[in-house]
Amino acid sequence: MKTIIIANRLPVKIERNGEEFNIIRSEGGLATGLGSLETDSDIYWVGWPGIFTDDKNEKKEITKKLHAMNFHPVFLSSDHIEKYYEGYSNSTIWPLCHYFFSFIEYRADYWEAYQEVNSLFCSEALLFIKDDDIVWVQDYQLMLLPKKIRDKKPNINIGYFHHIPFPSYELFRVLPEREEILEGLLGADLIGFHTHDYMRHFISAIYRVLNLNCNLDEVSLNNRIVHIDAFPMGINYEQYHNAPNLPEVKEKSKLLIESFGEKDIILSVDRLDYSKGILHRLNGFEQFLENNPEYHEKVSLAMIVVPSRDTVDIYAELKTHIDQLIGEINGKYSKLGWNPIYYFYQSFSFEELIAMYDIAKVALVTPVRDGMNLVAKEYLATKINKPGVLVLSEMAGAAIELSDAIIINPNDIDQIEKAILQALNMPEKEKKERLEKMQKRISKQDVKKWAKDFVNELLDIKNRNREILQKVVGKRQLNQIKKAYDDANSRLILLDYDGTLAPFVKKPEDAIPSDKVIDLLNKMSSDSKNKVVINSGRNHQILDKWFKGLDLDFAAEHGMFYKENNKWHKNLIDKIVWDEEILNIIQHAIDKTPRSFMEQKEASLVWHYRNVDVWLAELRSQQLVNALIGPCARLNLQIVPGNKVVEIKPPDFTKGSEVLRRMENHNYDFILAIGDDTTDEDMFRVLPLDGVSIKVGNFSQAAKYRIPLQSSVVPFLNNLIT
Ligand code: UDP
Ligand code: G6P
Repeated sequence: MKTIIIANRLPVKIERNGEEFNIIRSEGGLATGLGSLETDSDIYWVGWPGIFTDDKNEKKEITKKLHAMNFHPVFLSSDHIEKYYEGYSNSTIWPLCHYFFSFIEYRADYWEAYQEVNSLFCSEALLFIKDDDIVWVQDYQLMLLPKKIRDKKPNINIGYFHHIPFPSYELFRVLPEREEILEGLLGADLIGFHTHDYMRHFISAIYRVLNLNCNLDEVSLNNRIVHIDAFPMGINYEQYHNAPNLPEVKEKSKLLIESFGEKDIILSVDRLDYSKGILHRLNGFEQFLENNPEYHEKVSLAMIVVPSRDTVDIYAELKTHIDQLIGEINGKYSKLGWNPIYYFYQSFSFEELIAMYDIAKVALVTPVRDGMNLVAKEYLATKINKPGVLVLSEMAGAAIELSDAIIINPNDIDQIEKAILQALNMPEKEKKERLEKMQKRISKQDVKKWAKDFVNELLDIKNRNREILQKVVGKRQLNQIKKAYDDANSRLILLDYDGTLAPFVKKPEDAIPSDKVIDLLNKMSSDSKNKVVINSGRNHQILDKWFKGLDLDFAAEHGMFYKENNKWHKNLIDKIVWDEEILNIIQHAIDKTPRSFMEQKEASLVWHYRNVDVWLAELRSQQLVNALIGPCARLNLQIVPGNKVVEIKPPDFTKGSEVLRRMENHNYDFILAIGDDTTDEDMFRVLPLDGVSIKVGNFSQAAKYRIPLQSSVVPFLNNLIT
């Protein structure tokens, strides 16, 4: 088993150096974080080497160099770089996920290129993926890839990790390709985010865009589930923690101290990006200089901005603004021997970066949106010589774990100024205490643990999916069931109605049995070995009306009534007089929830919410259940949440009690129960060991088999009896 990481960018990039090619490390959290991962199993990478070439020989040479490191390059054409990388990835998805609504570009040719490149990555990866491998797709540039791989290799383990924020549904819905993107991601078995908030937004988009059922953190598809979880990414803590002691780092730190002199250094490190709040930081620092002249000549801001995506217009414009603002601030405040801002528009080597972390008193991290922000964690891990203070934006995913930093809202310039003052004046003891707490946390949650947690969960889901798949009624399972059916002389066949024999429709009164269903029931019941029972939650009047003339037995209102030998029986002797308080609570829920309604049966009350918005329905059903607990406990009534309903009924009879009653009265050598709802699980649970229970729709632990789609139930039964 090998792990194959597929990311737009490899952990190294190739740069042209005259006739030669140099291999240098890539910037950005994904590449530095995952690139520093050490594992026992083999890791292979598939990704873009960050260089454009059309030359066959050059491609060969680069491929050879990269293969030696287990890296498999995907070469992009200049058109793809422009439309897939700069275009759809970084001018559509990136601004969308970082809440920069007005920067989003919608272009059909970008979308086309995005699809093409995702297919290109797929073909490249398929060249060496084996069935037991773990495929781990990374980030927003490859959101269609999980499905593309799944289509070719249905049983492979696929994980996806989203390294940037996932926006709220209200923003995500603006994307014209929202459906395709979500469907692409659902090709994975496990989808990971840095925080629970991103995870929550994603689940809400799944509900609303694809109208799929999510059970908390799981989406049920036809023959598998997709799990969604939060895994905050860490760094290679040991590597950063030990680095300040490396001789070449010590040397560099010494040089830096000599060149900065006695001044306190506030450090910032980011890729050039509008999401990083670089202008906010500069404005905050300027206000600090303006209001606090006593710090002039004592404090400097060292700003490392790593060139990134500068061929995208917005990035190029940002660069111009940054240059201008730094020029203005330095022009206004500089003195002989003191620069307020040291500006480095370049990439630093690992050792240089560590030396900067080492000498900086304060790290000022001010993104307006950031999936995680590893710089904040790297700074903390590196502080082994003197404690430093971290000022961190609450908009970074890292702020959730690093709550002992000075947390700020970067849109509030006053807060930035105050945070700088607080950091510069923080007593040593407090600095140490805060630092130690955060170091403890990030040393435990390092990148190794992050990857291990993700992969373990992925393998776990895979096992569950295997179990789910085995339950799905296919040819083998049908033959098993059919053999037991054919061998039997006396059969009990229990069929739920709504969601099993009839599809779930908008209005319950429209769920009239189709001709095919009537035909099937006629055929089944004409076999003298069969006792066919419709075991339903519906009232007996409607069952009588819909199945008039058929030789069937029934149970109505969840076992409260049953019809045998053409005669209805009632289990409950007294007519229920519904308590005013309960009726009022349900009426209140109806008033507050458009399109919900109440059904009053003889022995139960049902609040239906099948046409209500999912979020509102969830809120109101929970509120309703909470409000009903007291009165229902007092009156000994049961509250049963079902498929888009909350039902209130006496506890004594269920669909299961009806099955038990029939089993007591007759000896059957084959019992089959099919149903889709939670109340049908009462039937499944009481079946004998050799009974055949089939859940329609989502996976159920209580049922032996599963038919994913309601539309497959009638064909299944027809196959069974012929
Ligand atoms: N980094 C780098 N060279 C530099 C400056 C930064 O390799 O000159 C690295 C830094 O160590 C960090 C990454 O770039 O690991 C930035 O990751 P972060 O999560 O902070 O932001 P991202 O760039 O992923 O948005
Ligand atoms: C962020 C993204 C990564 C990306 C990195 C650098 O960290 O999440 O997917 O690789 O920025 O951006 P670049 O466009 O240079 O790859």
